Amino acid sequence: MQRVLLLLLLAPALAHARDVTDEEYSQFPRLFQLDDYESCLARPGGLYCLGSFTIAPLSHPSPLYNTLKEYSEDVHHFNRTELHRGYCVSARCASLAGERNASRRFERCVAARARRHSLHVSLHALSYCRTHAQEYARQHSSEPMDVPQKLFLTVLAGLLAMNVIGTAYDLLTDDNDKKLAALSVWSVRDNWRRLTAHYTDGDPRISALSPVQGIRVLLMLLIMAAHSGCIQDALYIYNPRWVEQISHHPALMFFLNGTSVVQLFITLSNFLLAYNLLLFSKVQKLSFRMLPYIAIKRIARISPVYLLVVGYAATWWASAGSGPLWPAVVGAESEACRRKFWTHALFLNNLVDPEDICLVQTWFLAVDTQLYAVAAVLTVYLSSRRERALPVLAGLVAASSLLNGLLAYVFDWKSLMYIAYPSTLRTMYRGVPSFARLYEAPWGSLPPCLVGLFFAFLHFELQEAGVKVSSYKWLRLPYHAAPVLTVSWIMSGHWVRAYSAPWFVAAYVALERPLLSGLCGIVMFGIFNGLEGWLKSLFAWRGWQAMGRMSLAVLAVHWCVNMFVAASTHQPVHASLLSVIMDWLATSCFSYALAIPLTVMVEMPAQRFVTALMM
Ligand SMILES: *[C@@H]1O[C@H](CO)[C@@H](O)[C@H](O)[C@H]1NC(C)=O
Ligand SMILES: *[C@@H]1O[C@H](CO)[C@@H](O)[C@H](O)[C@H]1NC(C)=O
Repeated sequence: MQRVLLLLLLAPALAHARDVTDEEYSQFPRLFQLDDYESCLARPGGLYCLGSFTIAPLSHPSPLYNTLKEYSEDVHHFNRTELHRGYCVSARCASLAGERNASRRFERCVAARARRHSLHVSLHALSYCRTHAQEYARQHSSEPMDVPQKLFLTVLAGLLAMNVIGTAYDLLTDDNDKKLAALSVWSVRDNWRRLTAHYTDGDPRISALSPVQGIRVLLMLLIMAAHSGCIQDALYIYNPRWVEQISHHPALMFFLNGTSVVQLFITLSNFLLAYNLLLFSKVQKLSFRMLPYIAIKRIARISPVYLLVVGYAATWWASAGSGPLWPAVVGAESEACRRKFWTHALFLNNLVDPEDICLVQTWFLAVDTQLYAVAAVLTVYLSSRRERALPVLAGLVAASSLLNGLLAYVFDWKSLMYIAYPSTLRTMYRGVPSFARLYEAPWGSLPPCLVGLFFAFLHFELQEAGVKVSSYKWLRLPYHAAPVLTVSWIMSGHWVRAYSAPWFVAAYVALERPLLSGLCGIVMFGIFNGLEGWLKSLFAWRGWQAMGRMSLAVLAVHWCVNMFVAASTHQPVHASLLSVIMDWLATSCFSYALAIPLTVMVEMPAQRFVTALMM
């Protein structure tokens, strides 16, 4: 029985695997190779270069080349007609010292090796060539600081000073209750208390929302796990064949197709926005004149931590580590951050030059902010027409889903699971429009945002009408079925992605996000309305509270942390399940540790400072 099940599970994988035998595989040139970086550049005259090469047959017919080409046609495989090399050119090809042009010297050096396989190579993309003199200057930091770097340090010093002054002020005026708010909001002691507080009493409607923090932590951990895998895939890998084989595995679908679960963050954040506004509307009628105030509060919460991390990435990140891959991976991304800093400040980084990626997770903050504006306007508008709100919102969910389906059909965009393969992930989907124009785009996330609004209005109306949702027994079925259905939908991607007719792919785009956010919305709605169950007990654990409040800082900082963990390697990474888990655990621990000072000393005081000034 078990064997039958296993065969059934593996059948689709076997069906389109055109794998080579181990013997054939052993003839392949290594896909990635790295020479010793430090000892190379320690020698005077040392030259280290890193880049990608395209191969071609040296003579016809070339059975090896044909095998490589055929092998590369499987989407699960890396492109074997490319080679990635980090060579100590000065030591490997000492005879080429006469060639003055470093990149040509590198190319000739790699070509000499490839000739043994009867292959011709040409340099396709040079990451860098570094000489002994350059490395020496870098290590002894004789490079002067540039203006952005100085600016970053000044901002950091300013923030520290405010914290010191605020804390001292708070401690000195301990029992004075008429404190100057603009100063006392910077008190580390006070903000630490806020971070670790338990809001068990107070408004029961607000404390019913406390499981939100557990949901946030779980999502953050999943995001970091997926990104640990991405980053390992983007580095030089010692055993690419293992990655190619594992990419057929059904279980991997959980991460490849599960990325849409991030949309739950959008549903959640718009639910909270609309629900809080509706609660407020009982005190004071909502009007469009409040929108600037709502916008400023939002920006004051997100921007300080977010821009501090992007600012770090644009200035000091590149010089904070070393190794053969560091300049190629982190150095290049740091330059993108510098080019795109202004787009991040304006929350437009997903629309302007979307393929030039700085800290990939930041698309989410941009989309969330763009949709926040839409949601705030809609909520204010519908709050005075509440009797029509639910049908209008349901109609808008359907219309926006249809729009995405149509766009996908016209532009040939696909859901992530159709394009997520080791070779596309390697370059963070560079040149794949589905990622830049659908996955990261505000219209792609519009349906989940509207689903959030729908549930907020529903929740509010039921409370106003005094309906006790938990007393309806039939509601338990969807509530308990939703998590199972969510996981089944995600995993079914493994079989579903075999169907690639354009209409089917477009329909999948249209359905995927509203369906997942609807399912998650049901769980959320059930939890907030007091339906019991293991999910509620899990998310309502008090330990999540403080961690949940650090979500923004963790989201902002984890990519840099993960790079520190993974990209300073001096050898190609031996990819394995265990190594991804280790990277993930290390990244999670360090990210949450770093998020404490970021939240307590930057996010909380800056937000409270702006609020205090607006009073
Ligand atoms: C592999 O890379 C080469 C050179 O960059 C390119 O011409 C070719 O189309 C790629 N093959 C596949 C299957 O992507
Ligand atoms: C080195 O050679 C490459 C072509 O092989 C050329 O594009 C590049 O400009 C040359 N660099 C210098 C410094 O001459």
